[in-house]
Amino acid sequence: MYALFNDIYKNKKVLVTGSTGFKGSWLSLWLHTLGAKVYGFSIDIPTKLSHYKEIGLENKIENFEKDIRSLKDVQEVINKVKPDFIFHLAAQPLVRQSFKDPVETIETNVIGTMNILEALRKSNNTCCAIIITSDKCYDNIEWVWGYKETDTLGGKDPYSASKGCAELVVKTYANSFFNNPESKVKVGSARAGNVIGGGDWAQDRIVVDCIKAWAEDKAVEIRNMEATRPWQHVLEPLSGYLLLGELLHENPLLNGEAFNFGPKDIQSYSVRALVNEMRKHWKNREVKPVKNDGKEAKLLKLCCDKAANILNWQSTLTFEETAKLTTDWYKKFYSKTEDPFKLSKEQIDEYIRIAFSRNQKWVKDND
Ligand SMILES: NC(=O)c1ccc[n+]([C@@H]2O[C@H](COP(=O)([O-])OP(=O)(O)OC[C@H]3O[C@@H](n4cnc5c(N)ncnc54)[C@H](O)[C@@H]3O)[C@@H](O)[C@H]2O)c1
Repeated sequence: MYALFNDIYKNKKVLVTGSTGFKGSWLSLWLHTLGAKVYGFSIDIPTKLSHYKEIGLENKIENFEKDIRSLKDVQEVINKVKPDFIFHLAAQPLVRQSFKDPVETIETNVIGTMNILEALRKSNNTCCAIIITSDKCYDNIEWVWGYKETDTLGGKDPYSASKGCAELVVKTYANSFFNNPESKVKVGSARAGNVIGGGDWAQDRIVVDCIKAWAEDKAVEIRNMEATRPWQHVLEPLSGYLLLGELLHENPLLNGEAFNFGPKDIQSYSVRALVNEMRKHWKNREVKPVKNDGKEAKLLKLCCDKAANILNWQSTLTFEETAKLTTDWYKKFYSKTEDPFKLSKEQIDEYIRIAFSRNQKWVKDND
């Protein structure tokens, strides 16, 4: 048996916004297994097939079907639950969708973040809030170096800009309202890169596109084979968010700080490398490169020295392990050989075992 995150989440009330989404459902499941009382906040279940539904999360957490754009909705839930921790993941997370509906994207991602912080400011609640933004919050000038937390925020497309704005909202609330040692509210922000893993069915994501096509014996169409990204298994940034929550709770000096969470390897991998790695585990399925529409940046890297030095966090898995864990989940899901809840729980356990064997500080031996 292992002790995780200093057992801080045991018996705590934790509100996860975006609980029905890809990352939110994995985070809610992990918190549930840590003994937390988990509450969800989501407007809908964003995809027809969904990790949230497949693992039966609705029977394990209390989910509020509410709109993050409404301050009234957010206040109602926060005042009712009085959470010890909030992980704010609710968002419109897709770059392409942000071109179709920039207003929805900016309202959800910017006003939604403000509503969480405003509801906390007005409540008398003691709470640590971890706000999830993105590696896309930086002004991406496509240089070869990884972005540091002190680099300029920006965003050429509406999604990226909304995440840069959300960071500014966090900064101003931290500085203007929560910036004293007595503050009941502490806030941190987390900027992670492209996340992959089982149970994602969102549109326009490379792994999802591959799996959907290959599951139907079709060739997958890929727009941007040479684009590189800091790919990570979903459990990697989640371990960072959970560690940040623990340390923010213990250390007031972390209040208002932002952290990058990305792969250890400073070298990011291309779409081509990822697809080839996945094909090793999925009967060498076909790939058809198609013309790129230029809507997404080609190069994006993160520098994670701050998380390594201050939080003692670094990613655990190799690129090959990341691709294998991801592909294995979908293979088992589509072949119906394992109950999805058991499958996800086993992958969390496997990840913890590997993290322990690689001396990650957030996991300790209980014996
Ligand atoms: N998936 C990635 O690769 C990635 C990378 C970097 C950052 N992120 C960030 O992580 C977070 C989670 O991403 P995901 O991939 O799990 O997204 P997802 O699309 O799977 O889930 C989005 C969630 O937000 C909820 N939501 C959307 N609009 C809402 C509203 N108006 N009110 C209440 N809830 C609303 C949805 O119901 C859903 O639960 C997002 O903030 C995203 O920007 C994701």
